[in-house]
Amino acid sequence: MILLDGKSLAKDLQEKIKKDVATLAAKGVIPSLAVILVGSDPASQTYVNMKAKACKNVGITSILHEMPQNISQADLLNMINNLNANANLDGILVQLPLPSHINTYAVLESVAPQKDVDGFHTQNSGKLFSGISGFVPATPLGVMSLLSHYNIALQGKDVCIIGASNIVGKPLAALMLNAGATISVCHIHTRDLGFYTRNADIICVAVGKPNLITRDMVKQGAIVVDIGITRLESGKIVGDVDFDSVAPLCSYITPVPGGVGPMTIASLLQNTLKSAEARADRM
Ligand code: GUN
Repeated sequence: MILLDGKSLAKDLQEKIKKDVATLAAKGVIPSLAVILVGSDPASQTYVNMKAKACKNVGITSILHEMPQNISQADLLNMINNLNANANLDGILVQLPLPSHINTYAVLESVAPQKDVDGFHTQNSGKLFSGISGFVPATPLGVMSLLSHYNIALQGKDVCIIGASNIVGKPLAALMLNAGATISVCHIHTRDLGFYTRNADIICVAVGKPNLITRDMVKQGAIVVDIGITRLESGKIVGDVDFDSVAPLCSYITPVPGGVGPMTIASLLQNTLKSAEARADRM
């Protein structure tokens, strides 16, 4: 069993990004990212802080816009319009989830597609589903980079993705399909999850339910990518896989923490750099 060490790979990627950011800065382009956080959800605050810290580490300017929970949709859209028009800004990220009085779709659609470093605008998701280059959401992009780094080929593989969100499951399915894998996307209404997982060469699980994947659901030699993150009452961070019992069966498995999480952050930095490079090319 080999651990898919996202922490180590993300560190190497950040070093490379840092160099590329410095090259751009020497040309007068400082990559910059606006992060919008609405309300005070503790998990969202943690994620936003991690993103800001990573930006700082590589020399990307990040500007946090903390908005009250009761901000109106009109005010939020107006703010995003102003950020869209700011020629020195490369990325705009709206941390999700948004409060229920706000139409998330309308907000994500208001971000200029060329600044949509989260890849959530339908113009970018449409490109992804058509196999055309655009911004790809950070978590699925991080999973692909991690598998690629370990030379894990996808062509012809049977992949089971559990979780069908717009943020992870659906874009990951598109990426893996584009890479030649056969994909089953399972979700809350799937009647027999084990039927799909037991057949899979690669299992990717992004649900947020500790111990959802148990030993009896995994075939010998499978590759397991655990995208779930749950903080237990004890403070321990765990994924969706019963790691201790499943890991011995696997050819490769991600740890939690230290697997996909750090890759997500590195991918966001990559997307912001890519946007800044496009700006430099236009100058
Ligand atoms: N909430 C959970 N995951 C994400 C993410 O990748 N991006 C944003 N903006 N919000 C999230």
